[in-house]
Amino acid sequence: MHIISLIISLFLLLFIPIFQSIEVLAKEPIRFNYVGVGLCKLCHKDKKLGDQYNVWSNTQHSKSFYTLGTPEAKEIAINLGIIDPQQSNKCLRCHSTAYAFTEEKVAEDLQIEDGVQCESCHGPGEEYTYLEVMENIDKAKSNGLIMPTEETCRNCHNPESPTWNPERDPTPDGERVGFYFPTRKKMIEHHRPLKEIKK
Ligand code: HEC
Ligand code: HEC
Ligand code: HEC
Ligand code: HEC
Repeated sequence: MHIISLIISLFLLLFIPIFQSIEVLAKEPIRFNYVGVGLCKLCHKDKKLGDQYNVWSNTQHSKSFYTLGTPEAKEIAINLGIIDPQQSNKCLRCHSTAYAFTEEKVAEDLQIEDGVQCESCHGPGEEYTYLEVMENIDKAKSNGLIMPTEETCRNCHNPESPTWNPERDPTPDGERVGFYFPTRKKMIEHHRPLKEIKK
């Protein structure tokens, strides 16, 4: 009896760490590099394609770095012991693509001034921005392209934001929530003109 349980404990002690590290290896995603909105702009300023560049330029995402320079931002920051929000990784992790949801500037070539760019939602573009890849959505997806869902948005639109307001958005049922995806998605929509969509 005792010997058996001893053997089982030894087995667990020895092998569980091995199983765990295999699992970690299997889950480690492939890391692509970020290229920046300037590259997307080369093709996506085209009206026939939907002019995503100009649509994005007119949303707050493109201005989110400058929001960190406002008196409101400075007041929030001071209360958190941060002197300059435009220099703080605690703010830039959600207000700029260059930090890619981390507290470290991971994309050295990206300008923090460009705020929340295409790749914060669509994934780093290094391998999918070639025309022959972009034209084939399956190929683009296997090279890092993300077609964003609500989860993508919630990387930033969540209670970790110092201005999170759990009652910011109205829902059709007359309730209020911090982030109501269908309405928010409409606010940033950048589809191709209908006749151009080929699926
Ligand atoms: C060389 C030109 C080019 C560049 C650079 C480029 N794209 Fe595209 N992209 C296209 C074309 C063309 C399509 C339309 C493909 C189709 O429907 O056949 C497209 C489609 C897309 C789609 C829609 C996929 C689908 O099938 O619905 C997304 C999302 C996208 N691009 C994001 C980006 C992002 C983000 C960048 C920058 C990181 C980028 N693209 C850079 C040419 C480009
Ligand atoms: C990398 C972080 C990040 C991600 C991912 C993100 N957002 Fe945002 N979003 C922000 C920030 C920061 C602001 C505030 C910008 C400002 O006011 O300067 C914002 C503001 C907005 C606004 C107000 C825009 C306006 O022009 O008034 C809408 C709508 C919005 N986001 C929708 C979305 C949707 C939908 C998604 C997912 C498809 C999404 N966001 C993903 C960070 C993000
Ligand atoms: C977890 C992600 C996240 C972090 C971290 C974050 N923000 Fe934001 N911030 C957002 C989002 C998302 C919005 C847009 C709010 C919305 O539309 O729901 C926003 C909006 C704002 C606004 C505009 C006012 C408003 O309520 O829309 C200010 C000012 C701001 N943030 C300041 C800061 C400062 C200063 C820091 C650092 C101390 C910071 N944020 C850190 C996600 C974040
Ligand atoms: C805040 C998140 C967010 C940002 C920033 C963003 N997109 Fe999108 N994009 C989306 C969402 C959500 C969709 C719709 C996905 C779907 O329909 O499944 C989309 C769809 C697209 C499509 C397909 C359009 C169609 O006709 O169906 C293209 C192309 C595209 N984005 C390109 C871009 C480019 C280029 C930029 C930067 C200039 C950009 N996006 C910035 C969230 C974003």
